[in-house]
Amino acid sequence: MIVHIKLPNDISYDVIIDKLNLINFDKKAVLVTNCTINSLHLDYIKKYLKIKDLSILTLLDGEEYKSMQTIETILNHCFEHKLNRSSLLIAFGGGVIGDMTGFAASIYQRGIDFIQIPTTLLAQVDASVGGKTGVNNKYGKNLIGAFHQPLAVYIDTFFLSTLPKREFSSGVSEIIKMAVTFDKDFFIWLENNTLDNEENIKYAISKSVQIKASVVNADEKEKGIRAVLNYGHTFAHVIENETNYKTYLHGEAVGIGMLIANEVSIKIGLMNKQEALRVKKLLVSYKIPTSYLIKDSEDFYEHFFLDKKSLDNNIKFILAKGLGNYTISNKIKKEDIISVLKDFS
Ligand code: NAD
Ligand code: GLY
Repeated sequence: MIVHIKLPNDISYDVIIDKLNLINFDKKAVLVTNCTINSLHLDYIKKYLKIKDLSILTLLDGEEYKSMQTIETILNHCFEHKLNRSSLLIAFGGGVIGDMTGFAASIYQRGIDFIQIPTTLLAQVDASVGGKTGVNNKYGKNLIGAFHQPLAVYIDTFFLSTLPKREFSSGVSEIIKMAVTFDKDFFIWLENNTLDNEENIKYAISKSVQIKASVVNADEKEKGIRAVLNYGHTFAHVIENETNYKTYLHGEAVGIGMLIANEVSIKIGLMNKQEALRVKKLLVSYKIPTSYLIKDSEDFYEHFFLDKKSLDNNIKFILAKGLGNYTISNKIKKEDIISVLKDFS
């Protein structure tokens, strides 16, 4: 299956599902991966890569290495291997590798091409598509970065066979996010089908990629509708930050964030309790955590202003409107948010 991402200025590309044999570039390239994926899947991917001149860069594994320092490592490797402006970077890994490789590609000699070969479910359904690239710094997550679209994305569910269950569920959380905000039929499908077999997983990936494609096609640079993909994230980023990125995986924090957002939706009449319960039930069925102890609601609220989407002192909340629809609002009253946050304390 191929999903087309249609963008202006000649940067359209395809997300190609289950056709790794199409990876064919007459270019000098660096494949960027980490030590975990290297030992599990490097031999497998090498069989498919038709690349003129390939070198491999293996980084340490972990969100804590998603930093400017690692970008420097990638760029240095590119210079040492004499990549030029027509060379290629290959991101082979989860969202961390994808975001960093994309960012390095966006700045190496003012920008070179890169492709994504995502190996986690989260990266296959979300992070590898849409061209958001970047790194974290001491001020927060993904605060340094660029929009830089890949030349193509190659998804293969084979890689998911080695993914730890928790990581898999973290990806499911992002799938649920897309269904709740954009596609009620898909949400109902997820309620009635389990992602425990190849066929269902492929279906859920292709549905999610199609949803993401339609959003990115409409709003590449997040001036409007693309912000909806951040449903649950405003709360999730605070949770991740408060727990030093150690307690929860990104998708897990997003799961809790969606539940907090849904309570806000209920409070202002956008969702009924039954609908919120259905989202919770679906998350629970994948063992995605659904509770978080907010110690200080005011402090939690103040954290929103550290999020890059709120740097102008205006917090934009993405809320589900029933199932399969959304609202974007910067007019939610502070007292309504605080009252919901207190229910989690
Ligand atoms: P990750 O890249 O850290 O991967 C999770 C873990 O799984 C890592 O330990 C990794 O080495 C391991 N792994 C990867 N593939 C594997 C496989 N096939 N088998 C076994 N282990 C494997 O995390 P992630 O969840 O993929 O991505 C999270 C990151 O993505 C965050 O940094 C987040 O900010 C970013 N993100 C970006 C976007 C975007 O649009 N650019 C969207 C969502 C998330
Ligand atoms: N993951 C959010 C986005 O791509 O916009």
